[in-house]
Amino acid sequence: APTYLCLFQEFWCPDLFIEGVKSFQKCFEAKDSDVVVASFPKTGTTWLIALTFATVNRKHFSAENHPLLTSNPHTLVSCLESKIFFVDEIHDPLLHLSNMLEPRLFSTHTPFTALPKSLNESNAKIIYICRNPFDTFLSAWIYFNKLMLKPLPALELEEAFEMFCDGRVIFGPWWSHMLGYWKESLARPNKVLFLKYEDLKENVNFHVKSIAEFLGCPFTAEEESDGDIESIMKLCSFEKMKDLEVNVSGKLDKFIDNKLFFRKGEIGDWVNYFSPSMITKLSKVIEEKLSGSGLSFKMYA
Ligand code: A3P
Repeated sequence: APTYLCLFQEFWCPDLFIEGVKSFQKCFEAKDSDVVVASFPKTGTTWLIALTFATVNRKHFSAENHPLLTSNPHTLVSCLESKIFFVDEIHDPLLHLSNMLEPRLFSTHTPFTALPKSLNESNAKIIYICRNPFDTFLSAWIYFNKLMLKPLPALELEEAFEMFCDGRVIFGPWWSHMLGYWKESLARPNKVLFLKYEDLKENVNFHVKSIAEFLGCPFTAEEESDGDIESIMKLCSFEKMKDLEVNVSGKLDKFIDNKLFFRKGEIGDWVNYFSPSMITKLSKVIEEKLSGSGLSFKMYA
């Protein structure tokens, strides 16, 4: 595996995140009202964070004056494995966390099996998103090659693809990541809401409603007839978010331009990149790893 990836608790953890994951596991104290957006990287995290934030906070903000118009969605939640988040200058991560307004909104790429006990045992809710592995791979390959974060090396398509098929990718293997949350969502549907990027594309309205119901804040008939769901969909749409000034020229941090989170936003762009042998190979891996799980994906638009 590349040197920046370490096999840590059975997943490939970027070395930059190891301390963060450890302190998340050790220090995090969940509250029953917590909401966690969990995902494998490049599967629609940014979109789901925006939809969740807008749904949960819909009473606080008007469409004209919404934080999502001026902030990258990632800056509106706290990433649970981010080291910076836990090692702040007051040296008291718990105080920092307990000062957040409720419901606290978090994001994480940590696999289900590596989440802290406290998150599992509380009534905190988890919304997970995944995406067909073909598009996930393509999106990740392009994204990580554009990141200025060293020592991440630029990889040729073929090399990156081999690693992806072996599961040697950030927070991989991707099949274990998906299956961990998938199984939990079947066992505890009130704990984990399992979403797919493709389903969201097909019917955002339905899924915004199910997110609200899952989180215990369903839309009222009045809100529905006022078009509140539609305005959340519009606000969080790819077209709208991509062109916002903050996402065109803003930066998430020293290394990451906000525009990197908005590329094409489509299902099936992989057809423009995959060779026939790549299609055969990844299809086989998917069959081998996911068959019998009941988990399947839409591959084309
Ligand atoms: P593509 O690279 O295929 O375009 P993540 O947010 O997990 O990093 O995932 C990024 C992927 O989600 C990118 O896919 C990006 O374009 C897409 N995306 C970002 N915002 C979106 C939105 N509001 N609606 C649909 N797709 C979106």
